[in-house]
Formats: sequence, structure tokens, C-alpha cells
Amino acid sequence: MQQITHDVVILGTGLAGLRAAVEICMKTRGAADIGIVSKVQVMRSHSVCAEGGTAAVMRPEEGDSFELHAWDTVKGADFLADQDTVDRFVRASPDEIRLLEHWGVPWSRREDGRIMQRPFGGHSFPRACMAADKTGFFEMQALYDTLLKYGFKRYDECFATSLLLDDGRFAGLTLYDAPAGEFFVLRGKTLLIASGGLGNLYGFTTYSQTVTGDGQAIAYRAGLALEDPEFLQFHPTGLVPSGILMTEGCRGEGGYLRNSKGERFMEKYAPKMMELAPRDIVSRSEMTEILEGRGFPGPDGLDYIQLDLTHLGAERINKRLPLIREVCMKFLGIDPIAEPIPIRPVAHYSMGGIEADIDGRTRVENIWAAGEVACHSMHGANRLGCNSTAECLVWGGITGREIAAYLGKGPKLNEPPERMAREEEKRIFDGLLTQSGTENPAHIRRELRALMDRHAGVYRTGDSMREGMNKIAELKQRFRRIAVQDKSRIYNSNLIQTLETANMLELAEVLLTAGAAREESRGAHARTDFPKRDDEKFLAHSMVYCTGAAPRLESKPVTITAWKPVERKY
Ligand code: FUM
Repeated sequence: MQQITHDVVILGTGLAGLRAAVEICMKTRGAADIGIVSKVQVMRSHSVCAEGGTAAVMRPEEGDSFELHAWDTVKGADFLADQDTVDRFVRASPDEIRLLEHWGVPWSRREDGRIMQRPFGGHSFPRACMAADKTGFFEMQALYDTLLKYGFKRYDECFATSLLLDDGRFAGLTLYDAPAGEFFVLRGKTLLIASGGLGNLYGFTTYSQTVTGDGQAIAYRAGLALEDPEFLQFHPTGLVPSGILMTEGCRGEGGYLRNSKGERFMEKYAPKMMELAPRDIVSRSEMTEILEGRGFPGPDGLDYIQLDLTHLGAERINKRLPLIREVCMKFLGIDPIAEPIPIRPVAHYSMGGIEADIDGRTRVENIWAAGEVACHSMHGANRLGCNSTAECLVWGGITGREIAAYLGKGPKLNEPPERMAREEEKRIFDGLLTQSGTENPAHIRRELRALMDRHAGVYRTGDSMREGMNKIAELKQRFRRIAVQDKSRIYNSNLIQTLETANMLELAEVLLTAGAAREESRGAHARTDFPKRDDEKFLAHSMVYCTGAAPRLESKPVTITAWKPVERKY
């Protein structure tokens, strides 16, 4: 089997992966040999869809501070965030904004020429640096342009099927190169996993179709722990019926949420911050309105709430929210200048991920993780808006520096176990691809996503999650009997989607296992059978390990340095 070797392998080409690559190139003066793997193509990574902004303390002289940003983040996280990690994050984020400024991001500007920052949910100061409502796209563009100054090798449309360890260290990834139809091993002295989230576990989601948690799944199968997977964020404003993100920037610019009685119902739930309360609170409030009959009837059971921007005026909408207007017009034939937008809570972000320490290092010495795929324990039970792009940049930078320093120590290159690589090739091309069966993997995927919407939504119970787990067990049985219809090796998207579905089944089981065991409500994990937070029993991170049978669950303490948990009021 072909083997290709680099100093550094980066899996994922979103904000975190590109930021890390730039940092490694800068720190090693271009000497590090980097291979960058994307299951799509670099600029099609989901990060380009980030809309609202990137959080950073840019104006201490106007009243913002690191302490305030940290406090907002910890309180928003329902006290499950590691406070040392949060402290490091808030101090590092402003430098990332300035770097991106130098690398060409066209930040929106105030009248006085300084970078504009708009209010965002759960932040007590306008902290979202923005490039209109296309922030992720411009950030990606600037990073990619910067990276082009250096030499690196791209592996576009290559799907990682497994992570190979040798002697407890990273040795290689097995990759299906779709355009070439080849299967090969990519070796490296180090690996950075930066492959993004897993939101396609849900049917109603803001994510691109490609976001299926493959990085989490291969790491989990290789023995790394997944931390806090039960905390799945529902963004309050997903366009009905597509799920496309209507940025929180809409509410940051002054948009209202209204129920079918025309009421700004957030007054009842968060009288101070109203529509700009943290996402877990706004999403629950919307669902309560809908469940109590004050929503609008929507298609396929997608009853909705209205996001009203009509009072903002054409100039503000055209300048600050041009993408939102374009999407509403193209997808629904609605012009938000004149009409309210139908929205409801939508699966948006995974607070959990591959366990990584404050430096982004996993428990395997030469593997780091950054961005949404990782859990640095910085978002706890609920992430604040705009802290995600910021996290990708901050930990892209941190892991890039760490990896560059590690390379300086002359680490050895481990040998990928030939037998495991061959078995993996056999599993896919002599097994999955050729087996004849009666089940269609696309049907299993559709059923899985619908069951996650039903059994692990904004509100859940132990019974609903256990029922979900039983259904996943059935889907896993059925998955054994699938047939992949396209039998070719070249550009087999049917095969890739089947591999993704296997990953999704595994991750859905992990999420529900941790969720059923956490008998409390905290942040995005809202259980109607255990409606209160229980710090006595559950002020701890969930850790889930792969066993080959049912996932094994452990826990890990939360690092609390400055703030003891108190009741959250907004
Ligand atoms: O609403 C948004 O623009 C999303 C931002 C985020 O998830 O951080």
C-alpha cells in the first residue's frame, strides 16, 4: 500500500486547521513539511458558513475587560467550563483579530475607523468583531491567502477512514482518495485533528451536509476519549424549513422574537437580556412557546417563531445583514426588510469533542486537536455566540506553536501497522463496498437524523434518550445488512456517505449514553425529568470511551479558579 510521509498531518481545513498551518509555517520559517487533508476542498470547509462574528476584547477603554469576557463565558457555560482555559482564551483572542486584520480580513468599521463590534447573546459588552454577516468566509479567505505564501501539500477530497497508532503514538491516517479511487496511508511525526463538528447527526441543522463528525469517530475508535458529548447546542434561529443559520447578529442588530400573539416573549424568560440571552435559554424559551401553542404552524411539524427585523430599516439590513436578506429572498421569497422570518431552534454546535488539554494536546503524545472537533472544556454546557470562530483561531495558533516546538525536538516517525492498514482497506473495499444486502445506508442515515431530532432535542428525558439508544442499536444491526449501490472505486460519494453514516451511528450512541447518565439540567442539556442543575453530583465533565461494545463512561473534575457556580439570571 502506498505510504506518503510528512512532518505534520493536519486533518481538516477549516479555521482551526488553516490557522494552525499558518502558525507552523511561520514558526518553522516554512521548513516544516505539512500535509493538509480535507474531505471536501479547502475553501468548502464549513467554517466559510460562519456568519455573525468573532468575540474579542478590543476596547477596554470603553468598558470591556478580559475578566468580563471570561465571566460571561463561564456563566454562559453553566459553570462547566474550565476556568483556566477560558482565561487563556480571552487573553489570546484580541491578537487573533489583529493578525487577521494584517492578513486582510475586511472587518466592518465604525465611523471612527475602528473595528466594529456588535452585541451577541450572553455577552455583556458588544464584542463580536464582524465582516458584515460573512465573517467566516472572509477569515478563511485571509488564512488561505496567507498560507499560500508557504509550501504545503493538499489532499483534497480525501476521506480519513481510520487513525493508526503505533506504540501508543500517532503513526498514520488511512485515506480514501475519492478522485483517484486510491486507498493509502498518510504518515506523520505529528497529527492535528481539526475536522469540525458533527451537526448532521440531526435532521434540522445549520450544518453543511459534510459535517458528520468523522474526526471524532476515528479518534474515538482509536481509543481517545470524547468529552461532554451530551452538550449539543441548539441555535435559536434556524430558518424554517431549511435550517439555514439566521445569524444571532440579527438580534445583535436589534431584531425581535415574537410568538403568534405578537408578543416579545423573551420578556418572561430573560427580562434583562431579552433576545440576547445565551442560546440555551432563548432556544428553550422558543420551544416552550411552541409547545404551549403560541408558535406558528409550520411545514412537517416545524412550528415556528418569528424573527422580526422590519423595524431595523433597509439601510441597516443591507449593510450589516446582506447575506441574511439574500438567503431569505432566495430560499423563501421573503424580504426581511418588509416581513418577519420564520425560525426555530436548530442543531448548531457540539460543545463536546475529543478530549484535549489547555494546549490542545490529546492523551496521545503526538496528536493535538483544535476547533469544534476538540473539547478544551472552554464552552462547558453552553457556548456563547462568536466564541467559536475565536476558539478556532486561538487554538489553531496555540496548537500550531506547540507542534512547531515539538518538531524542534526531533521526534521520531512511527511505523504505521501495515496489518491494520490492510485490514482497513479490506473492510471497506472487500467488505462494505462489495457486500450484498437489503438495507439502503441513506435510509438509515435519514432515520438516525430524525430520531436524534425527536429523542435528543432542546428538551429531553431519560426515557426519550434510552428509547433513542434502543433505536440506534436497531439501526446498527440494520447497517450490517447494507448494500452500497455504486460499486466503483472512483469518486464514490455513495461509499463516503456510508462511511459517514457508520461514524454518525457511533457518535449518536455516545451522545445519548452521556445524556442519559447526566441526570440534571445544565446549559444545553435540558431534562424535563431532572429540571434542576445538580452541582453535588454532576459538576464534572463526562468522558466516553470506545470499548467495542457499549461505550464506557467516566468523569473528570471541572477546573474552577475564580468563580463558584451560582444561579444564572439574565
Ligand atoms: O449566529 C451566528 O452568527 C453564529 C455564531 C456562532 O455560532 O458563534
